[in-house]
Amino acid sequence: MPKNKSDSENIRIRIREIISNQKRKTVTVLSSLIAIQDSLHFLPEEAIEETAVHCKVTINDVWSVASFYTNFRFTPPGNNTLDVCWGPTCHISGSQKLIGQAHDQLEINGEGETKDGKVTLRYSTCLGACAQSPVFAVNHKMHGKMTKNKVDQLINKLTK
Ligand code: FES
Repeated sequence: MPKNKSDSENIRIRIREIISNQKRKTVTVLSSLIAIQDSLHFLPEEAIEETAVHCKVTINDVWSVASFYTNFRFTPPGNNTLDVCWGPTCHISGSQKLIGQAHDQLEINGEGETKDGKVTLRYSTCLGACAQSPVFAVNHKMHGKMTKNKVDQLINKLTK
């Protein structure tokens, strides 16, 4: 849904505060984008423009930084984040089938948001809990030794 003028101005005010309140000595384009994403969980277009103004660089300069790092996202995330691990240990433990099941249950084909905006699915190459493989995580909370039934229950909770 397109933002109206006052929504856009409100977000600009919030972004200016975020940029100005950075605790670091040197404020850069990158530090500003990180601060904005930490706070808003994504970079709206106003973030690019306000960062350019604050850092006295062009919008293209900011875009070149924002688009270089794959951790930046430009659309709002879903209400919950589901990280699914397809790293080597989880792969050997059968993660591919479980990830396929997650895709089917969420009705998506890969990373991204469900149509209702309830869940963002992300792939991970290791969630750091290989001994518990296969591993999923919901909002950074680990769920190890995943099975078909556990995936089913987890996703049912996220989508109800
Ligand atoms: S490979 Fe999956 S948690 Fe390490």
